[in-house]
Amino acid sequence: MIIGVPKEIMTGENRIAVTPGAVRVLVSAGHKVLVEKGAGEGSMIADEELSFAGAEIVAGAQELYQRAEMIYKVKEPHPSEYELLREGQLFFAYLHLAASPEVTRVFIEKKVIALAYETVSIDGILPMLVPMSEIAGRMATQIGAHFLEKSNGGKGLLLGGVPGVTPAEVVVLGGGIVGVNAARVAMGMGAKVTVIDINLQKLRHLDGANGGRLVTLYSNPSNIAQAVAKADLLIGAVLIPGGRTPLLCTEEMVKSMQPGAVIIDVAIDQGGCIETMDRTTCHREPTYERYGVLHYAVPNMPGAVPQTSTYALSNATLPFALELAEKGWERIIAERSPLRQGINIIDGRVANRAVARAHSLEYYSLYPTGKKE
Ligand SMILES: NC(=O)c1ccc[n+]([C@@H]2O[C@H](COP(=O)([O-])OP(=O)(O)OC[C@H]3O[C@@H](n4cnc5c(N)ncnc54)[C@H](O)[C@@H]3O)[C@@H](O)[C@H]2O)c1
Repeated sequence: MIIGVPKEIMTGENRIAVTPGAVRVLVSAGHKVLVEKGAGEGSMIADEELSFAGAEIVAGAQELYQRAEMIYKVKEPHPSEYELLREGQLFFAYLHLAASPEVTRVFIEKKVIALAYETVSIDGILPMLVPMSEIAGRMATQIGAHFLEKSNGGKGLLLGGVPGVTPAEVVVLGGGIVGVNAARVAMGMGAKVTVIDINLQKLRHLDGANGGRLVTLYSNPSNIAQAVAKADLLIGAVLIPGGRTPLLCTEEMVKSMQPGAVIIDVAIDQGGCIETMDRTTCHREPTYERYGVLHYAVPNMPGAVPQTSTYALSNATLPFALELAEKGWERIIAERSPLRQGINIIDGRVANRAVARAHSLEYYSLYPTGKKE
C-alpha cells in the first residue's frame, strides 16, 4: 500500500505520525511510505533520517494526498487539506468526530474511509489514546502549576506549598488514564488531590494504590460542586468513548471558584466537561479568562512535547497502521479485527454510534442484522 504521512499544520502541533524506525518497519513489510518534506522537523527528525529509513520525501501535501492510498497522520485534517481528500482513501488519525460536525461532514461528502485512533478499544483499554493521555495528564498538572503563578495570571500559589503553609487543592474530574497521571504528578508535587469518577471500581483501585494520600469522590452534581468551589486547580479528564464529553462542571460552579484559580480541560478534544470552556485554544495563546478563572483548552497538548509524544504515539499506532496497510478495510471488517472499531465513516455513512448520535445522523452498521459487531 502507498502510505502518505503529511506535515501536521495545526497551530503548535510538532508531532509526526512516523519515526524513522516505524518507516523501516512499514517499508520492510513491502509498503511504500511517502513523507511530506519537513514533516519531522518539529520532532527533530530530519528528512534525511526518514529517507535513509526508506521513505520517499515528497515536496508538498498536494502530491502526497494525490498519490497515497492511506493517509497516516496525527490529527484530523486541517481545513486547507479538505479539498485534497480523495474518495476511497483511508484516513488514519485522531479524529474526535463527535466534537466536530465540520470534519464529519467533510469525510461523508468526500467518501473517505475514516478510522479514528481513539475509538479502537481492546479489553476496555484504548491502546492508541493511552500514551497521549499519559502525556496530557502529566502535562496538565505541570501546566496548571505554571498558570497558578501570579505573573502568569494565576492566584500566586505554589502547588505543593512549603512546611507551615497549606498546599494547593487539585481536583481531577475523571480518574482514567489522564486523571491518574495528573493526580500522580500533583501528589508528587505535594498538592492536596481529589479525584472524582463515576466508576466506583476505579475509585477503589485509586484509593487502594495511594494509601489515603488522595481523596476519592463519587461523581454527582453536589460532590462536584463542593469540590470545584475549593479547587485551586481543576483538571477535566472525563471520557465517554467516541461520544461528546458530558458537561459536569456548570457555569455556576465556575463562578464559585476563587479569582486566579486555573482550569485545564484536557477533555476539550471531545467537547470538554466544563460549561464555560466553550472554545478551544492553542499552544501560542493557551488561556482565556472567565469569571476571574483562567481557562486552558488546548486540544493537542502532547504536541508541545514532540520529542516524547511522537515516539510514544508511533509505538502505539504502528501495529495498527501495519495491519490496516496489509489487510485493507475489507479484511479488517470481515475478520472482526479490533481495528474495525476505528471505522467512523465509510462510503459516506457514519459507522460509529456515538458520532451518529452526536450529530443526529443515521448509524450504519458494518455487519448485517443479527450478527455480533
Ligand atoms: N487535550 C489533549 O491534548 C488530550 C490528550 C489526550 C487525551 N485527551 C482527552 O482526555 C480525556 C480523558 O482521556 P482518558 O484516556 O483519561 O480516558 P479514560 O477512559 O481512561 O478515562 C475517562 C474517565 O472518565 C470517567 N467518567 C465517565 N463519565 C464520568 C462522569 N459522569 N463523571 C466522572 N467521571 C466520568 C470514566 O469512568 C473514566 O475513568 C478524553 O477526552 C481524551 O480524548 C486530550
